[in-house]
Amino acid sequence: MRTHYCGEINADFIDQTVELCGWVNRRRDHGGVIFIDLRDRTGLVQVVYDPDVEDVFAVAEQVRNEFVLRIKGRVRARPEGTTNPELSTGEIEILGKELEILNRADTPPFQLDDEDTSEELRLRYRYVDLRRPVMQERIMLRSRVTRLLRNYLDEHGFLDIETPMLTRATPEGARDYLVPSRVHAGKFFALPQSPQLFKQLLMMSGMDRYYQIVRCFRDEDLRADRQPEFTQLDLEMSFLDEDQIMGLMEEMIRGVFRDALGVELPDPFPRMSYAEAMRRYGSDRPDLRADLELVDVADLLQDIDFKVFAGPASDPKGRVAALRLPGGGRLSRKEIDDYTKFVGIYGAKGLAYIKVNELANGVNGLQSPILKFMPDEAVMEIMRRTGAEDGDIVFFGADKAHVVNEALGALRVRLAEDLGLMRDTWEPLWVVDFPMFEWDEGSQRWQALHHPFTAPKAEHVELLGSDPGACLSRAYDMVLNGTEVGGGSIRIHQEAVQEQVFDLLGIDEAEAREKFGFLLDALKYGCPPHGGLAFGLDRLVMLMAGAHSIRDVMAFPKTQSAACPLTQAPSEVSAAQLRELHIRVRVPEKPAG
Ligand code: AMO
Ligand code: AMP
Repeated sequence: MRTHYCGEINADFIDQTVELCGWVNRRRDHGGVIFIDLRDRTGLVQVVYDPDVEDVFAVAEQVRNEFVLRIKGRVRARPEGTTNPELSTGEIEILGKELEILNRADTPPFQLDDEDTSEELRLRYRYVDLRRPVMQERIMLRSRVTRLLRNYLDEHGFLDIETPMLTRATPEGARDYLVPSRVHAGKFFALPQSPQLFKQLLMMSGMDRYYQIVRCFRDEDLRADRQPEFTQLDLEMSFLDEDQIMGLMEEMIRGVFRDALGVELPDPFPRMSYAEAMRRYGSDRPDLRADLELVDVADLLQDIDFKVFAGPASDPKGRVAALRLPGGGRLSRKEIDDYTKFVGIYGAKGLAYIKVNELANGVNGLQSPILKFMPDEAVMEIMRRTGAEDGDIVFFGADKAHVVNEALGALRVRLAEDLGLMRDTWEPLWVVDFPMFEWDEGSQRWQALHHPFTAPKAEHVELLGSDPGACLSRAYDMVLNGTEVGGGSIRIHQEAVQEQVFDLLGIDEAEAREKFGFLLDALKYGCPPHGGLAFGLDRLVMLMAGAHSIRDVMAFPKTQSAACPLTQAPSEVSAAQLRELHIRVRVPEKPAG
């Protein structure tokens, strides 16, 4: 139906006749001349219809936005002063000779270029929304990224192998999406939270290197970077250690950034231990584009009268940290109040601060409601440790360590964004040396920080028995600009260690058998040392596209409340269907009286 795509036409085509198909981006009537901007996924081109060709002009008059057209015309240079340097086709226009309306369109539910359209409406009419050039670019980028990933993995001996969607629960820590079985009354499949166990079984099957671009399902609280179904680039390799795996993976990511964006990422990616990341940034996915760092000051404040600080300072699970914001002295009372509210979201009970006016005057050059509670020497030592200078503000967090970390960790990113202190760079990082377990106060149990199949460091296996909290794992996370884009580990390949870890996690023998019997069996029949990781493909593409939500790089995402406005899923089903699935729905009884 066409000879070219709209965006391809440029000055090289002058005097040629071309045939194009596309949507009407805009139609303008300019005193007898009709201009149509025709759009396809490659871009826009301007088509002009003169009234002298009467029958064609009559058709052009009927055209409205989003009509689907086929046009034929001759390319000519735009008259002087009317060129548009923003468009690849901006130097030319097409003098329309033919015009066929392939389909009419109702007035679209929203203006394509209206930035204020609600996301709900955009998702409801996603097929219209996806016509927007920015969305088309994102979807095309996603396609390019997956092709580059596949090429790399193919060249490096990875086999693309599919794993079941109807399966057993996989322990990645979220709630499962369940699928009732019709054949087996009262039983359920779970949709995979990840293919974790299958890819390990594939290593035991001798497949050596596996990858899959695979959908994962997790029923968890949604955020900008979390969807109930999302896509992983999932990988597993045999007979490689963590350094080799990290080496291959960062080479792959460097290649994708180079080929898709023309960006050169550092070689090698820097590495940081979990402990250092938490200490300096309060987060296991630190955004290194901002220099702001947390500084521990508990040792200076243990014995002071100010309970807010002295309490956490002497609590082994507490933390008192300072965060210096260069130039923050100019923050207003109201701004500080807003940041206090912000850290409140993370559970912080307040946000103490000291403004640094004139350090040369000692504590007299400082300004803060809490100075009266703190010995001068401690205050001056805090100024020294944080590197504070005149014109700065120093914030404080004092609470259980996890509250301080979450609150100040989020605050440093927020402050850097608000004050323009975030560098415009790409800052990848491997976070390593994760603890195997963290203690869960609620259940009074150890929980796996990664997942229960992650191997302990060889020299820490002993600690499983004596001091599980001190045991470090062979896990690694790839972090990019403050987002965890991928994570994985070397796996346990010995049955005895796997059983010991299950035991520590409070999974007794019977439960381990019931849930993971097939894995424990497989470990007996010849299991190679192996490891791997999974990238959140949506997150990776979101970052590459400069988007703020993974919804913007998914063709048909769900809303924050895990629903699809387009198809209206989830939906009710018939009583007959439920009966077939052996599901009885109890209709709530009317309250008595
Ligand atoms: P993990 O649970 O860390 O590891 O997941 C791997 C990566 O997937 C992305 N991700 C998500 N993206 C969007 N929405 C979600 N709800 C979501 N949850 C996770 C993140 C994350 O880094 N089986 C292990 C990997 C392994 O050990 O090999 C796993 O699934 O970017
Ligand atoms: P208060 O004595 O409660 O008025 O608190 C004095 C200052 O300490 C105020 O600026 C509070 O915002 C701050 N503050 C209170 N609790 C904490 C906390 N847990 N961590 C950091 N600052 C706090």
